[in-house]
Amino acid sequence: MMKLKKRMKWMNFLLMLSLVLGLALPLVNASAADKSKKQKVLVVYFSATGTTKSAAKKVKDATGGKLYEIKAADPYTDEDLDYNNDNCRVNVEQKDGTARPKIKGKVKNIRKYDVIFIGYPIWHSKEPMIIRTFLESYNLKGKRIVPFCTSGGSGISGSMKGIKASAKGAKVEKGKDLTDSSSKSVANWAKKKLKQS
Ligand SMILES: Cc1cc2nc3c(=O)[nH]c(=O)nc-3n(C[C@H](O)[C@H](O)[C@H](O)COP(=O)(O)O)c2cc1C
Repeated sequence: MMKLKKRMKWMNFLLMLSLVLGLALPLVNASAADKSKKQKVLVVYFSATGTTKSAAKKVKDATGGKLYEIKAADPYTDEDLDYNNDNCRVNVEQKDGTARPKIKGKVKNIRKYDVIFIGYPIWHSKEPMIIRTFLESYNLKGKRIVPFCTSGGSGISGSMKGIKASAKGAKVEKGKDLTDSSSKSVANWAKKKLKQS
């Protein structure tokens, strides 16, 4: 009799356990899957000669985010970009860490975005000063910032300090140089970043 009671107790316990797990696990899985879906994504980029623009479009396609181009109020000309000339506009701005070139336009309602991918070319091993203008123009508290760049080989590391300093209150993720990256590898990277949050 005692044995039977004990067995019944165990069976009840196992039944309850399987019920609880059966109900709870799908909920856990669903919330993990929903996480990347629910996040509102903004893909911001600045591009002087089109390379970063093409990378930004790949990020947009992978994330379904909204694309926003940072446009200089005073657009950069070929002369401005001539880094062989010490006095060209870009060389002067990049040497002066306090330069904040003006931007034409604004992101509408930046508050609604959770994750901001931000792309730029590397200029003199750093992010263009106009990227600092952008980051300092908004309240980014609590947002995730995911930097990406294109470069002639320097990579993104030299820009991370400036991005972190300008994106006050945001969580700045490790960035990536997407030069010559295929759509597939950009998609893998961007989707992984969204799942990490
Ligand atoms: C003024 C200037 C400075 C640059 N400085 C660097 C640099 O320090 N390191 C590097 O790897 N590439 C450098 N580049 C190359 C650009 O980062 C690269 O061509 C980038 O893909 C251009 O992006 P965009 O077409 O979106 O403007 C520089 C380009 C310019 C115009």
